[in-house]
Amino acid sequence: MTDVFPVHIDAERCTGCGLCVAACPADTLELKAERATIATPACMACGHCAALCPTGAITVTAPRNAPLAFRTLATPEQWLPHGRFDLGALVQLMRSRRSCRNYTDAPVSRALLDDLVKIGTTAPSGTNSQGWSFTILPERAGVVILGEAVADYFRRLNRLASRPLLRHLLAWCGKPALEQYYRRHYATTTKALAEWDEEGRDRLFHGATAVILIGGRNTASCPAEDALLASQNILLAAHAMGLGSCLIGFAVEAMRREPQIAARLGIPAGETIYSVIALGWPAHRYQRLTGRRPIEPRWFPPSR
Ligand SMILES: Cc1cc2nc3c(=O)[nH]c(=O)nc-3n(C[C@H](O)[C@H](O)[C@H](O)COP(=O)(O)O)c2cc1C
Repeated sequence: MTDVFPVHIDAERCTGCGLCVAACPADTLELKAERATIATPACMACGHCAALCPTGAITVTAPRNAPLAFRTLATPEQWLPHGRFDLGALVQLMRSRRSCRNYTDAPVSRALLDDLVKIGTTAPSGTNSQGWSFTILPERAGVVILGEAVADYFRRLNRLASRPLLRHLLAWCGKPALEQYYRRHYATTTKALAEWDEEGRDRLFHGATAVILIGGRNTASCPAEDALLASQNILLAAHAMGLGSCLIGFAVEAMRREPQIAARLGIPAGETIYSVIALGWPAHRYQRLTGRRPIEPRWFPPSR
C-alpha cells in the first residue's frame, strides 16, 4: 500500500478491455460501465496495469515505480516479449559467473556500483515492497574496515571454540553450534586470521576493492528472499560488466551475531544484512566451464 494513491486512469482513453483488471494482483481495479475504475485503495504499485494497457490510459506514479536511469549502460526502454531472448546466451552468462577469489588493485567506479544496485532492484520482491537496502563500500579502505570487524568477531569466537569443556557443556545443554563451528571452521578460520595478521593476506574478501551489502527492512514481508534475489541479479550483471564477484557468507554471519558491525557502516538497527558481495576486477581468467552435481528432481505426480 502507498500513502498517495498511485494509479490514475484516463477514462477517455480507456476502452474497457479489462486487461488491467485481469492482471492486477491486488484486485485494485474493476470494470464499471465498461471502464476500468478503482475498486479498492489497496495497491502494490507494481505497474502491471499501466504496462499492459493497449491505449496508455493508465499511469502509475509512485516512488516504487520510478524509472531506472543507468549511468554506464544503455538498455532499450521496452518490454522484451516472452521467448524473445537468446536463452543460450543467458545460460552461458549464468554458467560463466564464478566466485572470484583473486582481484587486481584497480578500483571499481562508483558509476558501475551504482548501476549494479539499480540492476539489483529489478528483482521481484514480496508484495512489491522493495524493502531491501544496499550499502556500498566503494574503496578498498572501507572493505578492510569491514574485514577487521569481521576478523575481530571470529577471533573472539575462536577463543570460545578453543575451550573443549565449554563446547561439550553447551552441546550437552542442547546447544551444539559451538561444537559444530569448531569441527567445520575453527582450523580454517584460525589459519586465515593468522595469515591476515602476519602476511596481510585477505582470505575473507580475497583482496576485493569494493563490497555491496544487501539487507532488508525487518518489517518487509520477505526481506531475506528479496535481498537474495537482488543479489543474484548483481552477481550476473557484475560478470557481464567484466567484474569478479563473490558472496561472503562469513561476513553475513559475523554481522548477524554482532549488530555493532552494521552500525559502524551506518546501517540502522531495523535492517538485517542477508548478503555481502565482494567485487573487483578479476586477476584471473578461466579457460573453461565446470559442471554441477547431477540433480534428480522430484516429480509430482511421479512419472511412469
Ligand atoms: C550463501 C553463500 C555464502 C558464501 N560464502 C562464501 C565465503 O564466505 N567465502 C567464499 O570465498 N565463498 C563463499 N561463497 C561462494 C561459494 O563457495 C561458491 O558459490 C560455490 O563454491 C560455487 O562456486 P561458484 O560460485 O564459483 O559457482 C558463498 C556462496 C553462498 C551461496
